Amino acid sequence: MHYYQRDLALIHDRGYGFHGDQCAPGILELLAPVRDGLVLELGCGSGALTRHLLAAGLRVTATDASPDMLALARSALAPWSARGAGADLRQLTLPGDPLPPADAVVSVGHVLSYLPDGAAIEAALIAAAGALRPGGVLAIDILDLDYGVIRAGERPFAKVEADWAIITEFSAPAPDRFVRDATTFVPDGAGGWRRGHERHENVLIDTSALPALLAAHGVRAEVGTAFGAADLPPGLRSVTGRKN
Ligand SMILES: C[S@@+](CC[C@H](N)C(=O)[O-])C[C@H]1O[C@@H](n2cnc3c(N)ncnc32)[C@H](O)[C@@H]1O
Repeated sequence: MHYYQRDLALIHDRGYGFHGDQCAPGILELLAPVRDGLVLELGCGSGALTRHLLAAGLRVTATDASPDMLALARSALAPWSARGAGADLRQLTLPGDPLPPADAVVSVGHVLSYLPDGAAIEAALIAAAGALRPGGVLAIDILDLDYGVIRAGERPFAKVEADWAIITEFSAPAPDRFVRDATTFVPDGAGGWRRGHERHENVLIDTSALPALLAAHGVRAEVGTAFGAADLPPGLRSVTGRKN
């Protein structure tokens, strides 16, 4: 499954960067002990969080599975690249691709919830724990089973802007699945609109099991509902910790 192709990647960049903006201050606080180290970002998208990491002077390897998201990130982060302080942008697909060693692993926008099942999510978390150097910081968000309960019966949502529009329909075919059907509209360059569609199948997990899983791989972690002062949307959990 290739999520976030050209049109949805563009719409995400234009209209959905606020989550990275909101999470950034709390994540930057967590990164204080490793500020001279390397931050590995998983699922960076178009760089909504990455730009805050770079603005704080951190060294960042920013990764994503979607080439269209990475292209947008390359352009958004160009001002830092021009100063020799850019991110090392790489295509990396979880959970199979190897993770480079890092002093922090960060990820926002429930990236791990895009993996096909709970086993793949566990594999990605174990890989993240394995990539962390001693003392390294973990800070990610991920969807809990609660998310499906809280959003059961959610009505379709539409957003229309001058140069893009999106209609999202929601369904929960199982207690551990939350599906977004997104129909997108962007200008087709010939005076009309191009219509596209992506179906995002998110996997919901019991996040209370994650501290034990991570502890078995050397990371003391806790599950919360915020990064710093920024509360996450209901059902989205923060998982933060340090490698022994
Ligand atoms: C909701 S977006 C969040 C993007 C960005 N972090 C933000 O907050 O704006 C989820 C991101 O996860 C990426 N993604 C989905 N499946 C992935 C996978 N298997 N490996 C790596 N990235 C993945 C998508 O391409 C997308 O950029």
